[in-house]
Amino acid sequence: MVNQSSGLVSRLQRGQPVRRTEISSLATFVPPRLLTNTDLEKMVDTTSEWIIQRTGIIQRHVVDPGVATSDLGKEAALEAIEQAGLTPKDIDLIVVGTTTPDMFFPSTACLVQHKIGATHAWGFDVAGACSGFNFSLSVASQLVAAGCHDHALVIGADVMSSIIDYKDRATCVLFGDGAGAVVVSAAKDPDLGIIDFAHEIDGSGGPALQMPAGGSLRPASAETVAQRLHYVKQDGQTVFKFAVRKTEDICRTILERNHLAANDVDLFVSHQANRRIITSAAERLGLDPCKVIINIEMYGNTTAATIPIALNEARETGRLKKGDLVLLASVGAGFTIGSVLLRWAI
Ligand code: UT7
Repeated sequence: MVNQSSGLVSRLQRGQPVRRTEISSLATFVPPRLLTNTDLEKMVDTTSEWIIQRTGIIQRHVVDPGVATSDLGKEAALEAIEQAGLTPKDIDLIVVGTTTPDMFFPSTACLVQHKIGATHAWGFDVAGACSGFNFSLSVASQLVAAGCHDHALVIGADVMSSIIDYKDRATCVLFGDGAGAVVVSAAKDPDLGIIDFAHEIDGSGGPALQMPAGGSLRPASAETVAQRLHYVKQDGQTVFKFAVRKTEDICRTILERNHLAANDVDLFVSHQANRRIITSAAERLGLDPCKVIINIEMYGNTTAATIPIALNEARETGRLKKGDLVLLASVGAGFTIGSVLLRWAI
């Protein structure tokens, strides 16, 4: 489908300054089925007490067989588009952050585009693991800022239960399934909206968190399946230490270069991988705990979906208001490191 956005010649090409962008709507979707700590106690050698103490997680949502990432993304997307006062045909671009695409190809963006009827959109997936939402938001925001597009749909969605080994107690207690979607549009108020992003990758951390088989290096075979190589493998402590240090680092970077202090932040929305990572990073930054949103207990680690799910919870519980300075931060497989700074615009 040919993209029909009126802004195909960007503001940059026309010699105009880039425009401020905003998140103009936010919606989330989690599958109804719950996987509780008590359920996991019956599946592996663990206790609910250990899981709560070491991670903060009490329950996660998981899909039923046959439900894929694009299905969760579709639900969140349709609601986000409606909230923005738009129809799917108004969407110019779809960027999906995911580690668990429905399949290698077509991309999840293509599958969502078809499912929601966004017939004027192009799009692609971003493999940023737990930074998938932050990375996707930044890319989409830049295309709207440059005037290439008016409305971009950004989705962070993962069906982690599809790549989790429910015989490995070190990983199966951590993850859940979910999706979040936002529409990114030109900012209505130039004082509100997306201010900046700071991202890094550090490929030396690859071995610490990966799914070893199923790609071009080790294509799926009877042997890779027998060796359980199509599941998440993690060196938890290495990832934990890196996540605490780099969450602090990236937040300092983005705050300092915008001449802001931690005190100025109204809401800190970190990737939800472990309660202890979030509280340690927030403490190191000197953030008041009441400015830190933690909802890992209800969802576990939903990878690219944690940030929109946490943002939405903050909004629904009255902890996020128009004009608030919001700091998003994430560290994940790769390693990927992300942060986005914004003034909440809705
Ligand atoms: O979003 C992607 C990024 N991922 C993360 O950010 C995750 C980062 N890592 C973590 O959150 C933590 O490292 C974990 C929650 C994964 C593990 O917590 P930990 O405090 O680092 O535990 P550990 O790996 O050092 O294991 C401590 C003990 C071990 O037993 P021994 O060797 O001391 O006897 C483990 O075998 O806990 C054991 N253990 C468990 N025990 C009960 C590991 N998993 C479990 C379990 N139930 N589920």
